[in-house]
Amino acid sequence: MRSLVQSLARATAILAAAGCVSANIFGPIGTDRPAPAGGSISVDQPPNTFFQGFSPPYPTNNWWAGYAAGDGTAVSAGPFPYESNLTPTSIQFGISTSRQWDGVSIKQPTQTDWGAGFVEHNGNAQNHKALSWDTQTVTLQYFTGASTLTSYLVPGSPYLTFNYAGATPVFTSGQGLITSFGGTAVPNGGSVTKSGTQFLVVNTAGTYIIYSLNGNITLTATAANGSGTVKASAQFNGVIRVAKLNDPSHKALLDQYVANYPTAVTLDYSFSSSAPQATLKFIWTVTGNSANLLLLTWPHHRSKLQSPNFPATTALNYLTTKGWMYPVIGNTWNLLYNLPTIDWNAPRTPDSSCTAQIIQGLVYEVGKLSATTPSIPGDFYNWGNAIAAKARLALIADHVGRQDLIPPVIAYLKASYAYWFQASSAVVPAFETAWGGIINKAGYNNVWVDYGNGYYNVNHFHYGYFLTGAAVIAKYDSTWRSQYQTQINWYLRDIVNPTPADPFFPVTRHRDWFAGHSWASGIANGAGSRDQESSGEAINGYYGAMLWAEVIGDTDIKNYARLLIATEQHATQVYWHLYPSASPTDRDNPYPEASVRSLITMGNVEDWQSGAWLFWGAQKVEIAAIQILPVTPVNEYLYDSAWVNNIISYTANELSNSTYADAWKSVIYLAYSNANPQDAATRSAGLTDWGTGNTYTNQVYFLSTRPNTGGTICSAAQANPLGNYTIQVASSGKYVVASAASPNLVASATTKSAASVFNLAFAPNAGTLQLVASSQYVTADQSGTFALAAARGVASTWEIFVVRQKVGAAAGVYSIKAASNGLYVTVGADGSLLNNGATEASSIGFKFA
Ligand SMILES: *[C@@H]1O[C@H](CO)[C@@H](O)[C@H](O)[C@H]1NC(C)=O
Ligand SMILES: *[C@@H]1O[C@H](CO)[C@@H](O)[C@H](O)[C@H]1NC(C)=O
Ligand SMILES: *[C@@H]1O[C@H](CO)[C@@H](O)[C@H](O)[C@H]1NC(C)=O
Ligand SMILES: *[C@@H]1O[C@H](CO)[C@@H](O)[C@H](O)[C@H]1NC(C)=O
Repeated sequence: MRSLVQSLARATAILAAAGCVSANIFGPIGTDRPAPAGGSISVDQPPNTFFQGFSPPYPTNNWWAGYAAGDGTAVSAGPFPYESNLTPTSIQFGISTSRQWDGVSIKQPTQTDWGAGFVEHNGNAQNHKALSWDTQTVTLQYFTGASTLTSYLVPGSPYLTFNYAGATPVFTSGQGLITSFGGTAVPNGGSVTKSGTQFLVVNTAGTYIIYSLNGNITLTATAANGSGTVKASAQFNGVIRVAKLNDPSHKALLDQYVANYPTAVTLDYSFSSSAPQATLKFIWTVTGNSANLLLLTWPHHRSKLQSPNFPATTALNYLTTKGWMYPVIGNTWNLLYNLPTIDWNAPRTPDSSCTAQIIQGLVYEVGKLSATTPSIPGDFYNWGNAIAAKARLALIADHVGRQDLIPPVIAYLKASYAYWFQASSAVVPAFETAWGGIINKAGYNNVWVDYGNGYYNVNHFHYGYFLTGAAVIAKYDSTWRSQYQTQINWYLRDIVNPTPADPFFPVTRHRDWFAGHSWASGIANGAGSRDQESSGEAINGYYGAMLWAEVIGDTDIKNYARLLIATEQHATQVYWHLYPSASPTDRDNPYPEASVRSLITMGNVEDWQSGAWLFWGAQKVEIAAIQILPVTPVNEYLYDSAWVNNIISYTANELSNSTYADAWKSVIYLAYSNANPQDAATRSAGLTDWGTGNTYTNQVYFLSTRPNTGGTICSAAQANPLGNYTIQVASSGKYVVASAASPNLVASATTKSAASVFNLAFAPNAGTLQLVASSQYVTADQSGTFALAAARGVASTWEIFVVRQKVGAAAGVYSIKAASNGLYVTVGADGSLLNNGATEASSIGFKFA
């Protein structure tokens, strides 16, 4: 299949030499019909009649998903600078004139300035449909009898374009009375008629220009009923373009370029063979002079555009929640991106000061994985993020030369993945046939399953984890890889299919190529507004795809995934990461207001608002962590110093407060380690939980593999002493004794020879104490009332202790803290060791000899 497509691509290239546009896109990953364990199912919210005449697959997460989902009237996220929605009779559009700042979000609520339709339309919702679409644009048509209105909705175009045939154009004001038309005041209840090829029309939204590209047209503006219409005197055959005129000085540029209109865009890309770089190309199809196509750019475009022809930013501009859109001339954009070269592991070996901790962590955490008790999938998301974290243990073991620890991880992963291939499993994937894609079968009629995955919400989050785990298995087990490659490819095709030539999946489902990043939202509840909260998991979606593509030897898709990673990371840095130091007048600063940038991080970027908040949590550590996790080697490019240093200040009050979960803190420290690995290591040494998507081993591995010019990263003082020791109270000199018969730990022996020996063994950032004589682990009393006792055969939560140099005491004098309840060990009047000290200062100092 690939070679067929490649020869087609070569044929296209020859045509290109003859003046056609080259579309050298990659061929399909597969063309087989997906047949997962759950079979096929149709979601209970199929497309409306918008796609009449077509068959699936259909796009689900693009900016115009609202045209085709639900009743098709939802406000859609473009084509910017406009937002739009379809009614049964018209295309409504507008540019928000209200920019609001509420202390948490910057908002530009969508408004309808005008609706474009025609008099002859019969008003049936079925009488409009898609004619074609591509990775950015959609062409749609309203029709009744022989009358049609065709519109090419192209993000970045300052004009909307309406091509009429045998239809009488009518534009309806969505913002109050029409007050002026063609320079003449329109009285309320009255009308003004003009002929010509351009008209200024004013309502409370401001001024729009209506252009005719096909000669004079006679239009009558009527102001009535708090609204008004601009209606043609007769049926029209030709193109009308409409643009918002924010400032009279913008008219010259709009007039100059109005004749050339875009109808579609081709996405193309080329990969440098000499450098890790790719050029992302947008090539607009133009009616008129291609070189004179006027478009608008966003900040992320401007910083990547090669040889741009930018008119002055004052010549035309529109403010959106992604910042100012400024003009550029020409129908071809070349956007140059540096591609990631990091794949499985970090590009440098762990700092030697951390190697022992990494290996101890591996032995401990791999030791807890059993192929006979695998992780049985209870959903897609939570299973995925946990399994991908486990998979990293195999990769880290490989990097530190502990190949012996790889097979147990792979065996565990394989036992867990086996559930995905069995129809009898509680959670099964299904091929969804109404739109085309893989979903959690249970979610076909339930938006609460897997965050709406049945409706194509956040598939890239879920499948990134899924692909990462599968890639790790396949890396070490080629038999498994060949056996399941076709099945795993369905998840790859679901999120990174590059071409319309795949008959079962839409093209790169989540990616909005013009916006520069992905949208998490699918087609639930009629689609409409787009959002993405977890920029980190979007990046990880493409990272998982890259790893899987690498392991199956698909260089094209690996490169495509690298381009997706590079673009998603760049957009995250532009729109999610906020920089108080940026200049308000910097052309490429998306947030002119200093108060917005002082938020430090966006939690959610939507089409009409962006803010430091989440749908599910209000803590700063959560808002920051969800832009960081999962921590994988490829995010070395993402965690820029300016942002991570600001994040540490932004979250400082929560980082120092034990009420806030270590799981969030752990990933914040890792992002920060990219700038300051020593401080990150010190902070990380206090963690007792890493969440399901991170591990102790990954914590030490990542921070120990950072760019580092500051010396030793890990410190032995941050770990429990390990080995066989007697325990002595530093102040009294008494030694601790315990036995099988009397398991309580009591400081009563006066000589070392009478003391009991305890084996101190590793646990992440802590350890266990085992009475050697009885092989029993020391357990802490939950209430702190009773003595510690060597009374457990297996070490679990209550048997974990943190042993550290005691603050202010002589070297070699330690405090002991029960990790379970955070209370320090003291000595009672009878010599019993009690975990009842609330503060480090209240702890008793012990010597280990
Ligand atoms: C178009 O309209 C303008 C203004 O009303 C008029 O001056 C011009 O003669 C018209 N042109 C044609 C070809 O009708
Ligand atoms: C204003 O509303 C009245 C009553 O519904 C209607 O007859 C009239 O046509 C409307 N005028 C315009 C210009 O839409
Ligand atoms: C820790 O955070 C909790 C919850 O926000 C708060 O109630 C408490 O006062 C904080 N503690 C400190 C020492 O700031
Ligand atoms: C601790 O002592 C026990 C019993 O003497 C012995 O089997 C074990 O190897 C010792 N462990 C270490 C780390 O020295």
